[in-house]
Amino acid sequence: MFVKLLTIVFFFVSLFSQLLKSSSQSLDNFTYNGFHPPLTANLTLQGIASVTPEGLLQLTDTTRHKTGQAFYNQPIRFKDSPNGTVFSFSTTFVFSIKAMFRTLSGHGIAFVVAPNFVVPVADSSFEHLGLFNPNMARKGTNDTFAVALNTIHNAEHSDINDNTIGIDIAGLYSGKSLPAGYWNETGQFIDLTLNSGDQMQVWVDYDGLTHQIDVTIAPFNHDKPIKPLVSSVRDLSLVLLQDMFVGFSSETGSAWSEHLVFGWSFRLKGKAPPLDLQRLPKFPELQYGGGAISRLAVLFIVMLIITLCFIFSIIFRVRFFLRRRKKFAEKLEDWETEFKKNRLKFKDLYYATKGFKEKNLLGSGGFGSVYKGVMPKTENEIAVKRVSDQSQQGLKEFVSEIVTIGRMSHRNLVPLLGYCRRKKELLLVYEYMPNGSLDKYLYNSSEATLNWQQRITIIKGVASALFFLHDDWEQVVIHRDIKASNVLLDAEYNGRLGDFGLARLCGHGTDIQTTHVAGTWGYLAPDLMRTGKATTATDVFAFGVLLLEVACGRHPIEIDNESGERTLLKDSVFGVWSEGNILDAKDPNLGTVYDQREVEMVLKLGLLCSHSNPQARPSMRQVLHYLSGDAMLPDLSPLDLLGSEMMLGTHHGLSEIGMFTGGSSMVDSVLSVGR
Ligand SMILES: Nc1ncnc2c1ncn2[C@@H]1O[C@H](COP(=O)(O)OP(=O)(O)OP(=O)(O)O)[C@@H](O)[C@H]1O
Ligand SMILES: *[C@@H]1O[C@H](CO)[C@@H](O)[C@H](O)[C@H]1NC(C)=O
Ligand SMILES: *[C@@H]1O[C@H](CO)[C@@H](O)[C@H](O)[C@H]1NC(C)=O
Ligand SMILES: *[C@@H]1O[C@H](CO)[C@@H](O)[C@H](O)[C@H]1NC(C)=O
Ligand SMILES: *[C@@H]1O[C@H](CO)[C@@H](O)[C@H](O)[C@H]1NC(C)=O
Ligand SMILES: *[C@@H]1O[C@H](CO)[C@@H](O)[C@H](O)[C@H]1NC(C)=O
Ligand SMILES: [Mg+2]
Repeated sequence: MFVKLLTIVFFFVSLFSQLLKSSSQSLDNFTYNGFHPPLTANLTLQGIASVTPEGLLQLTDTTRHKTGQAFYNQPIRFKDSPNGTVFSFSTTFVFSIKAMFRTLSGHGIAFVVAPNFVVPVADSSFEHLGLFNPNMARKGTNDTFAVALNTIHNAEHSDINDNTIGIDIAGLYSGKSLPAGYWNETGQFIDLTLNSGDQMQVWVDYDGLTHQIDVTIAPFNHDKPIKPLVSSVRDLSLVLLQDMFVGFSSETGSAWSEHLVFGWSFRLKGKAPPLDLQRLPKFPELQYGGGAISRLAVLFIVMLIITLCFIFSIIFRVRFFLRRRKKFAEKLEDWETEFKKNRLKFKDLYYATKGFKEKNLLGSGGFGSVYKGVMPKTENEIAVKRVSDQSQQGLKEFVSEIVTIGRMSHRNLVPLLGYCRRKKELLLVYEYMPNGSLDKYLYNSSEATLNWQQRITIIKGVASALFFLHDDWEQVVIHRDIKASNVLLDAEYNGRLGDFGLARLCGHGTDIQTTHVAGTWGYLAPDLMRTGKATTATDVFAFGVLLLEVACGRHPIEIDNESGERTLLKDSVFGVWSEGNILDAKDPNLGTVYDQREVEMVLKLGLLCSHSNPQARPSMRQVLHYLSGDAMLPDLSPLDLLGSEMMLGTHHGLSEIGMFTGGSSMVDSVLSVGR
């Protein structure tokens, strides 16, 4: 009885100890959903293998010719006894191989079952996943089972190409090796590229009874394909020892590639525990040629640069805008509201003349420079006169006068399109006259000249314009600056008078007590110089000089090169007439087709208009009659004219005008009223 009891007790004790024993060596499964502490304590890393802070098992980084291994550091009992049969086992893992180039990469990853986790590090010049040696000389390789993911072609292996999965048993020999891929649900084979950098999952299953070894691969998040990729029947009992270590081995070659394992599970005697794919570490940041610039950092830098560029462009634009606004600011004064319609925007004029470029400069006179332009919207050609530094006093009257005259638009006045006032500048916008000013045709015989018909048309035009200003208009307007350069020619060579009233603007308003005389040498009437007061008669004087100029093709004052003596055109015509035929004074470039009597009439009218005595000068109304032939010029002789000048005692010749320095086309000199 006691013995029986003892036997039972012994049985239970032995059963319990058996249970205890089996539980003490119950290490038959483990799961790594990412490699995080404290579980990483059970990993032994060799070579350049490491575990990243994100929980990635990084077998190799981007260094070349290096190996890396990671083994579970607890032995796994694959057999009951050294001569026993190997149990079923199963493992699965998620990996990624990122290569520098698709066709050139490291060698791949191998899942290894080895007798010792201290696998000798292979000579890195050989290419055997850091595991096998071509001469099979390395210890321990006889008892090794491996599943290799090969990404490099190696003639020494029987690998088919550089993208294969093979089973390696007891050394180098690849029991079976096939191109990576899987069969999907409909039985289609889908290729996989091992070193694409994509995450993929591998399953390795060994059946202890049938000795069937199955290796399956699928893309990440894909169910395990039913049909394995590589299958082999081999009794591993002859290969594996009783206690073995499991792990991974990897190697880089002359081109870098990064070998990563995201998760791993293993079970003896059963299916490997499924990995929790959602819990696996996220894909690591990109690495650039070994320098660990994280994708986030790159993104941040790019964003920063874009933001900075954006901010700078905004600042630049705002500054540009403000500057432009300042540059093109339009200040309207109270009195200008009346002329709003005629006021043009400086901005438009600025763009029309391309910023008042030198190229667009038509010429400069006493009041400023004239620029050619094209109005942006209407594409009308314009001439913009920039009158600078004019006195603000009298500006209002001037603007009102020229704007009202501009509105009247006489066919022989250069149309005024508008004006613009900016700071101390006044801009007058005229219609562009394609044929320029009259002076360009008169004196230079080599260049284009005008025939008599054209000249008489121009003279008549100017006369009618001047008559319009003097008589036809509700208030008397004195031009003050009649001269050849202010007679512009339109497309049909009609004479058009420009720059009316400008002289007054610079001559300080309508004040009779003015101390300034404005006008141009040779066109200044003696009475104007004496009194400083411009009248219609002083305009007629200048018109007379213009008549002589047009008929003779000579300057109003000619300076002798040798003696420096100045000769008034008026005097020299008078001299020719005194000697006999006044027609000898005509322009030799006139050609032969002209009306002699008309030329003679114009010459005589010129002398009459430029008579020293203002009372002796005809009015513009009379001038028009003479020119049109409606009235005959009084039959004058040189003596009559001379006599009347002598009687007045004001026949002024060179002596009087010579005191002014000639040369400049325009004068704004100070003459005291008393003189
Ligand atoms: N509307 C226009 N169309 C074409 N060219 C013009 C026009 N206005 C002026 N010009 C050209 O510009 C040049 C300069 O004109 P500006 O009036 O400034 O000088 P000026 O006539 O010689 O002297 P002043 O200042 O006494 O009038 C003229 O010689 C003429 O050729
Ligand atoms: C897995 O291993 C743990 C101990 O590590 C054990 O408690 C558990 O029972 C094992 N599970 C299976 C299914 O073998
Ligand atoms: C991990 O390894 C330690 C010893 O390093 C051991 O005590 C522990 O049991 C191991 N854990 C597992 C789950 O195997
Ligand atoms: C295992 O087999 C070897 C011969 O192959 C033999 O010598 C040894 O005794 C056996 N051991 C056991 C425990 O069966
Ligand atoms: C490996 O096996 C071969 C025969 O297959 C044998 O010649 C060699 O000695 C073995 N090496 C080791 C280390 O056991
Ligand atoms: C299997 O792959 C083929 C070819 O790519 C495809 O046409 C088919 O839809 C796939 N079947 C499934 C179930 O995804
Ligand atoms: Mg002018």
